[in-house]
Amino acid sequence: MDIINMPAHVGIIMDGNGRWATARGLSRTEGHKEGANAVRRIITHARRSGVKVLTLYAFSTENWSRPQAEVSAIMEMVGKYLSKETSTMVENGIRMRLIGDKSRFSKSLLGVIEHSEELTSDKEDMLLQIALNYGGRDELVRAAKKIASLVAEGTISPSDITEKLISDNLDTKGAMDCDLIIRTGGEKRTSNFLMWQGAYSELYFSDVLWPDFDEDEFDRAMQFFSQRQRRFGGIK
Ligand code: FPP
Repeated sequence: MDIINMPAHVGIIMDGNGRWATARGLSRTEGHKEGANAVRRIITHARRSGVKVLTLYAFSTENWSRPQAEVSAIMEMVGKYLSKETSTMVENGIRMRLIGDKSRFSKSLLGVIEHSEELTSDKEDMLLQIALNYGGRDELVRAAKKIASLVAEGTISPSDITEKLISDNLDTKGAMDCDLIIRTGGEKRTSNFLMWQGAYSELYFSDVLWPDFDEDEFDRAMQFFSQRQRRFGGIK
């Protein structure tokens, strides 16, 4: 598809797995499984479309309140996905990094994540950021703690704190701000996703449930973005 003005960084809030499953009389876990197929489809399509950074919201810091079995199923699914797909990512020039607080992950999941991050670390076609145990506020709190330590040990002074320093202490260090946030599943909120990086994001809300999200709906979001006039607080 010819889009003149593609977003460089696309973030997606993948909502609607549960409703997709319930509507078919399936378990919520089945919905997440089908969601993982949509993840594969959209990663491939985003890379082919020229997206440079794709950030997928897989599990929020608030999602721990779901039933334990569902939490475990999602974590397991992400681990399995990475074990299975890392070699394809390497072939396709995709660098993967996990954003979020890694301190609550099991040792085995952490091992899979780190292995995948390492194997793909020199890839440059597209950066895939999987947000797992991620919350924008939590990310800012963790950045504030790191910066406070630098001040306390005398490495920097408070006047050295700039927007760039804060950006450099976020999990997304080095990635450009998010141009477009897509949310599937019909709700219209950003739910603690990329709070800092999404300050000027365009927002695209789709009624499609995540497991049904396909290339055509992704392209509709790209069309929407390409028609926006972005002023970043200035005037035309
Ligand atoms: C939101 O739907 C979806 C999630 C909380 C989980 C997303 C996880 C995946 C797509 C699994 C695989 C991920 C990767 C990166 C391989 P919901 O459960 O809130 O749906 P509902 O609003 O219909 O209940």
